[in-house]
Amino acid sequence: MGETGTGRVEDGAWPLGAIPPLGQVPARMHAMAIRRERHGEPRQAFQHEIVDVPPVGPDEVLVYVMAAGVNYNGVWAALGQPLSPLDVHGEAFHIAGSDASGVVWAVGDAVRNCKVGDEVVVHCNQTCGQCHNCNGGEPMLCREQQIWGYETSWGSFAQFCKVQAQQVLTKPKHLTWEEAGCYMLVYATAWRMLYGHTPHSLKPAMNVLVWGGSGGLGTMATQICKAAGANAIAVVSSEDKGAWCLANGAKAWLNRKEFDCWGPMPDTADTATYSAYSKRVRAFGKAIWAVTGGVDVDIVFEHPGEQTFPVSCFVVRRGGMVVFCAGTTGYNLTFDARYVWMRQKRIQGSHFASRYEADQANHLVMDGRIDAALSTVFAFDEVAEPHTLMWENRHPPGNMGVLVNATARGCRNLEESRAAQGGAA
Ligand SMILES: NC(=O)c1ccc[n+]([C@@H]2O[C@H](COP(=O)([O-])OP(=O)(O)OC[C@H]3O[C@@H](n4cnc5c(N)ncnc54)[C@H](OP(=O)(O)O)[C@@H]3O)[C@@H](O)[C@H]2O)c1
Repeated sequence: MGETGTGRVEDGAWPLGAIPPLGQVPARMHAMAIRRERHGEPRQAFQHEIVDVPPVGPDEVLVYVMAAGVNYNGVWAALGQPLSPLDVHGEAFHIAGSDASGVVWAVGDAVRNCKVGDEVVVHCNQTCGQCHNCNGGEPMLCREQQIWGYETSWGSFAQFCKVQAQQVLTKPKHLTWEEAGCYMLVYATAWRMLYGHTPHSLKPAMNVLVWGGSGGLGTMATQICKAAGANAIAVVSSEDKGAWCLANGAKAWLNRKEFDCWGPMPDTADTATYSAYSKRVRAFGKAIWAVTGGVDVDIVFEHPGEQTFPVSCFVVRRGGMVVFCAGTTGYNLTFDARYVWMRQKRIQGSHFASRYEADQANHLVMDGRIDAALSTVFAFDEVAEPHTLMWENRHPPGNMGVLVNATARGCRNLEESRAAQGGAA
């Protein structure tokens, strides 16, 4: 690899913020790398190194990263839990970061959908591109499907990232680099959860219970509901977050701290305990009815997992859907099977999104109907900080961003960044 492993010596790498001539690829680059021996809390795991710029294959693109987004993948990658990404891709180090805005800087011989100089955002789904699922089927079922920047290396916490050509999408022109780099992973995931599982797709006037309404996924799910004319009922853990959800388009919010029905379902054979538990769940259900006028929700937008899953399966309506993409609080999901089969509820797993879905979703951002919901922006060397905040559930509502080569904030294209930062023409 030729990495120094020790830090800031800029041998062969352009300084951050000094923009090289378009298309000129240096030998080395700055990266916030994770190594196996550093797995643990984000401040220990992410370290600033100088590493080789990766060569691009025929179908690949090298993107000059202007800004990156922060999401939970970086937390899991730092911790090395539930598995180390290094065991998945086998590289010497891991460069996390599954969200980026930037400029196409080099393309492989077979690339036709973009060219050097294009200003882009990157979606994080990689597939083989050749199997039946990638060609007329469902690309998310491709056997080689992987999340870039998590199951693969060369993510966006580096001056250059390496992606498949199909991963690049048009950057919404009105967004700054830091806005454009922060939304795609959570937004496209929420989009597929709400539109990708027919016939349970989002429709006007539907009621949707959104867990973590102020988090990355929840923020984007709420906006999607609003844009569709549906009612998002956000669940959060504080009044501040609730107020934020209303401003973001939620119909109402509930404070999960006011209820006591969380965790795995108790033993159904222990009737006294089970009956007391059911009462506590019904109290939460009544709070939802107070918003909906007494009807159950059509969709539950799930991701906390172990702590909330049984309740999600109770409160969704007959024939409704609990759609989930994670188990942040634990993977041991329980539910009362009787209610699910008798009321013919659907439990649906969901994972990121296809390029088609990411592109569809991106058009609403380009039209200005969905906001990137950027909260706090961090400098490159601070990458560990937003991940620590996220891990400890202390992060601000919305999506956090990290400046990479866009060291001056507020620029919307390469020309503005050059003017603000200098660098070769
Ligand atoms: N499969 C996929 O494609 C995919 C894509 C994106 C994300 N994910 C996963 O989805 C999860 C959430 O991602 P995110 O970006 O939305 O994270 P996030 O911004 O941290 O939001 C998660 C929210 O969950 C809520 N929460 C925390 N503990 C909870 C509990 N015990 N019960 C109920 N809610 C709780 C928190 O809100 P309150 O404290 O206010 O309730 C928090 O805002 C992560 O595990 C991530 O890896 C999966």
